[in-house]
Amino acid sequence: MKLLYPTSLSLDPKLLEGYNATLHPYDVKQPIPDDLLDAEALVTWCNTPANLKDAAARLKGLKWIQSLAAGPNDVLSAGFDPNTVTITTGSGLHDHTVAEHTLGLLLTAARKFHLMRDSQTQGKWPGNLGGPQPDKAPGTFTTLHEARILVWGFGNIAKTLTPYLRAIGAEVKGVARHAGVREGVQVYSEDQLPELLKETDALVMILPGSDSTKHALNAERLKSLPKHAWVVNVGRGTCIDEAALNSALDEGEIGGAALDVFEKEPLDESSPLYKQANVVLSPHAAGGRPRGAEGLIAENLRRFLAGQGLKNVI
Ligand SMILES: NC(=O)c1ccc[n+]([C@@H]2O[C@H](COP(=O)([O-])OP(=O)(O)OC[C@H]3O[C@@H](n4cnc5c(N)ncnc54)[C@H](OP(=O)(O)O)[C@@H]3O)[C@@H](O)[C@H]2O)c1
Repeated sequence: MKLLYPTSLSLDPKLLEGYNATLHPYDVKQPIPDDLLDAEALVTWCNTPANLKDAAARLKGLKWIQSLAAGPNDVLSAGFDPNTVTITTGSGLHDHTVAEHTLGLLLTAARKFHLMRDSQTQGKWPGNLGGPQPDKAPGTFTTLHEARILVWGFGNIAKTLTPYLRAIGAEVKGVARHAGVREGVQVYSEDQLPELLKETDALVMILPGSDSTKHALNAERLKSLPKHAWVVNVGRGTCIDEAALNSALDEGEIGGAALDVFEKEPLDESSPLYKQANVVLSPHAAGGRPRGAEGLIAENLRRFLAGQGLKNVI
C-alpha cells in the first residue's frame, strides 16, 4: 500500500519505515500526481481546499486520512466518502503549545498586560495598573490564584492545561459531552452550564468546530457569566456567536475576551473586536506545530495494516 505524506512540514520518513507500506511525499498545494492515485493512506497538514477536493475526487482507493490538525474541518468539508474513508485527527499533537498559549491568554487577562502595552506604545505610564492595588476585590479578575476556571471541551488540550492552572492555584472545572472525573477534575455535562457559568471567573473554550458546537456560547449563556468574567477561546471560532460576544463586551456584560480563533479567519479588518479595549486577539497562533507527528502516524499505520481500530477516529 502507498501512504502519502505532506511536505508542508518537516517529517522524518525514517521514523515511518519498517512497515509493509511505501512512503511518498506530496505537495499539499498541487493536485495529487497521477502515479500516486492508488494510495490507500493520506496524511494531511495545511492542504489547500483545491488539493483536498482533488484528492477526494481522484484517490479512488483511499481508505484512511490522518490529519495532523486536532480539528480537521478542512478534511471534513472536502467531500471524502465517509463510508469508505476513515478520518483520524491530530488530537494530542498540539496539547503543549495550545495549553501554553491558553495560559498566556489567561495571565494576560488577569494581569492586564494588554492594557500596559497599549499605554507603552502611546508613551504613557499606566499608573492606574501599578502601585498598591486591592487584592482580589469582589467583581474583578486579577489573579489566577483561586480563580474559578471553567474549561468547556475537556479533551487532550484541557488535560495538559489543567496542571499548569492548578500549579498557580486556580480551581478548575470542566464541561464536555460526557460527565465524570477526568485527571482529577470534575467534568459536567452541558445541561449544568447555567449554574456553572454564574460561578466562573474565566471560561476557557476548547471545543471542536462542528454543527453541534456552532454558537455554543450564545447571548443567553454570555449573560449568565459574571460581569468581570473573561472568555478565552482556543478551540474553534464557530463555537462563539461573535456578534453576541461583541454586544456583551459593549454592554459590559463580561470582563473581556482573549481569542485565538474566529468565525472567519483572518478576522475581517472591519470587525469591532479589533477596537475593544478588553479584547486580546491572536491570529490562530496557539497550535500550528504538530509535535511527534511521526509517532502518531506510525502507530496508526501499524494498526491500519493489522486491521485494528485507529487512534483519534472522528
Ligand atoms: N487554536 C489552535 O491553534 C488549535 C490547535 C489545536 C486544536 N484546536 C482546537 O481544539 C479542539 C480540541 O482539541 P483537543 O485535542 O483537546 O480535542 P479532543 O481531545 O478531541 O477533546 C474535545 C473535547 O470537546 C468535547 N466536545 C466535543 N463536542 C462537544 C459538544 N458538542 N459539546 C460539548 N463538548 C463537546 C469532547 O467531549 P467528550 O470528551 O465528552 O467527548 C472533548 O472533551 C480541536 O477540535 C481544535 O478545533 C485549536
